[in-house]
Amino acid sequence: MASDGEVVRRVCETDGCDKEARLQCPICIKLGIQGSFFCSQECFKGSWSTHKLLHKKAKNEKSKESPKSEKGEMNTDPWPGYRYTGKLRPHYPLTSMRAVPSYIQGPDYADHPLGVSESEQSLKGTSQIKILPPEDIEAMRVVCRLAREVLDVASMMVRPGVTTEEIDHAVHMACLARNCYPSPLNYYNFPKSCCTSVNEVICHGIPDARPLQDGDIVNIDITVYHNGFHGDLNETFFVGEVDEGSKRLVQTTYECLMQAIDAVKPGVRYRELGNIIQKHAHANGFSVVRSYCGHGIHRLFHTAPNVPHYAKNKAVGVMKPGHVFTIEPMICDGAWHDETWPDSWTAVTKDGKRSAQFEHTLLVTETGCEILTRRLEDNGHPYFASQL
Ligand code: MF3
Ligand code: CO
Ligand code: CO
Repeated sequence: MASDGEVVRRVCETDGCDKEARLQCPICIKLGIQGSFFCSQECFKGSWSTHKLLHKKAKNEKSKESPKSEKGEMNTDPWPGYRYTGKLRPHYPLTSMRAVPSYIQGPDYADHPLGVSESEQSLKGTSQIKILPPEDIEAMRVVCRLAREVLDVASMMVRPGVTTEEIDHAVHMACLARNCYPSPLNYYNFPKSCCTSVNEVICHGIPDARPLQDGDIVNIDITVYHNGFHGDLNETFFVGEVDEGSKRLVQTTYECLMQAIDAVKPGVRYRELGNIIQKHAHANGFSVVRSYCGHGIHRLFHTAPNVPHYAKNKAVGVMKPGHVFTIEPMICDGAWHDETWPDSWTAVTKDGKRSAQFEHTLLVTETGCEILTRRLEDNGHPYFASQL
């Protein structure tokens, strides 16, 4: 601590730069974050992609402070001043972050204070797509089968009255039982072990204390990490009896995914998949989300290629045997525009109408593709909660 009269010499925040720093990040000042000095605009810009996560964390901490009502009770809506786009509300407080025993090997971001994945960060901006060697492909087959098993466990819990946090708990335990780390946990500080996206939530919904209601649709997105590799899939489920419009939306979304998968083979451009998906969505009167895309996946959770689901996109790359990536179209009943809740994760439709999603992890083979996260007929479950 500097005493009166002493000159404080602040050092630039940029890794490896120890120049004197006088410039303070204006957003940090506004958010009341201490420190955050840089020597120059160049260093500030260079550190931006990781530095901005500090802002996200600060906002997140703030958003968790549940205001008390006049009677002094805890309010379950953490942001009563926020203008929600639809009827859905978060239900706080959240249960605390679940632990993973140390014998389970986690990804690099598991114990990073901001959940930064240095391995992903180091490849940021590169469009080179990795061709996996046979042993990595075998590891992907294994992790994707485990992810499928975990989704099947989660799916069987879907019914009116169950909270998404109860589903998350089951997902967490199912991961540990399979020697898997639940990939979402602490990924850029995501607080839970899976994503649960209800009704107008497009993706990245945070499991919370809200009981599922008859008539809801809920997407459960599972990613698990095992033996150094990630496997990623999701499905949208019906809660009790849902209206005809929602059934059509969910059915069409599933068809969009499967039609895109049918086109996957060596020589096809990644940018072609969006044309197929949008054509089928539009033919049924639905729109395609533009802010979230499919992605390469293997030792990294999200990497090249980037796979947009909308038409006329500029995705880079041509499919080759040994590529592994996801297709995960999000299809909307109304307009495609999205916004994010103050938790910095939950993506919702701007018009508050429903959105559905399905996802598979795919391996490009010599002749087409292998759906690594496909449902196995004989997986020991008596029935599937999924209707599709
Ligand atoms: N599983 C999601 C995907 O399909 C990513 C979730 S990231 C999280 O890409 F942090 F929100 F979990
Ligand atoms: Co994904
Ligand atoms: Co996913």
